[in-house]
Amino acid sequence: MFDAVSLPETDQILRLMAIYAGDDRPLKVDLGVGVYRSPDGRTPVMAAVKQAEQRIWQNQNTKSYVGLAGDPAFHGAMRSLVLGDAVPVGRVAAAAAPGGTGAIRQILEMTKRLTPDAAVWLSDPTWPNHSSIARYLGLTIRTYRYYDAETGGLDRAGMMADLSAAAPGDLVLLHACCHNPTGVELSLQDWQAIGATLETTGAIPFIDMAYQGFGNSLEEDAAGTRLLAGMLPETLIAASCSKNFGLYRDRVGIAIAVTSGETAQGAAQAMLAYFNRQNYSFPPDHGARVVETILGDPILTDIWRTELRGMREGMNATRAAFAEALRVETGSDRFGFLGSHRGMFSLIGATPEQVDRLREEHAIYVVRDGRMNVAGLTPDAIPHVARAMAEVLI
Ligand SMILES: Cc1ncc(COP(=O)(O)O)c(C=O)c1O
Repeated sequence: MFDAVSLPETDQILRLMAIYAGDDRPLKVDLGVGVYRSPDGRTPVMAAVKQAEQRIWQNQNTKSYVGLAGDPAFHGAMRSLVLGDAVPVGRVAAAAAPGGTGAIRQILEMTKRLTPDAAVWLSDPTWPNHSSIARYLGLTIRTYRYYDAETGGLDRAGMMADLSAAAPGDLVLLHACCHNPTGVELSLQDWQAIGATLETTGAIPFIDMAYQGFGNSLEEDAAGTRLLAGMLPETLIAASCSKNFGLYRDRVGIAIAVTSGETAQGAAQAMLAYFNRQNYSFPPDHGARVVETILGDPILTDIWRTELRGMREGMNATRAAFAEALRVETGSDRFGFLGSHRGMFSLIGATPEQVDRLREEHAIYVVRDGRMNVAGLTPDAIPHVARAMAEVLI
């Protein structure tokens, strides 16, 4: 079976992590892997998570299976967090999944099964797992322009022109906020314009919400998603709790289908449960229960919101300090866009050779497409990284 196998390409971020682990230079800086880091370089367990886990440990008296779609209380908590009151509950179907990636996979597989000719439109660039999973499932991939490398901002005209060519039933994959890898946000006006185009074309928005609360606020980061869900007959959402609850390894995510009405909702709910059954039967429960415990208790919710706000404000302060350090080092505003981007990532506009030089000469680890995880920048690393970038990139 394995003698003549052609190996899949290994994930370049995982490859980078391995090289970083073996690097013994004291000033090494990991700006590659996509996890949040506090100013002292840790990825902490959030205080609300600790308390919720303690409560679960004390009160849980069975580990027996839950339903195929996961716990309905988790669906309810996530529905409110993601959608607020943008749509009536009767339109929403949901199923827990192993992380945001699991939810993406379930939704793309469902699309392939139910509408095999539908294309999936991905932003150029996007998180590599989007294209990897879509390709693996045999879906047709189309791309729409998104990033303007000249300005470090949105190629608005290009994006709108490309999206107007989508066919009815195609999926248009959008990042709810904190676009990975560019850091470029959509304004509410952009979301409105996208919604109007989707209305005209009949394409379906598929929103990847991996960073709610990391951009501007829990509500602002969900505003575009809520707008589309309220104005269009169908919206698909893959939400992750990996980052905003720090539950990375517990694998907590949810696939949400906002449907045209109650009949379609019943069908969508049955399909989501069916696809869970085929792939892993029951979804993981522990992390989902942590999330539902936090969101179901006003005190824990408050503790969580406060800590999340601190993380977000820290990242945005790091962005501002880093953009300023680069302004001083380069004597220009070339990297000013880093201050206005949101979320953990930005593209720094480095060629693969420049990325190699940053790693080899300065022990700075960036993904080869030039994606940097700003949350990996501790305050004492900022001058070192700004100086190295000025030397290598200018
Ligand atoms: C854009 C995007 N979508 C989804 C995910 C899903 O993450 P997870 O499967 O760990 O929840 C990530 C994580 O890096 C991401 O960056």
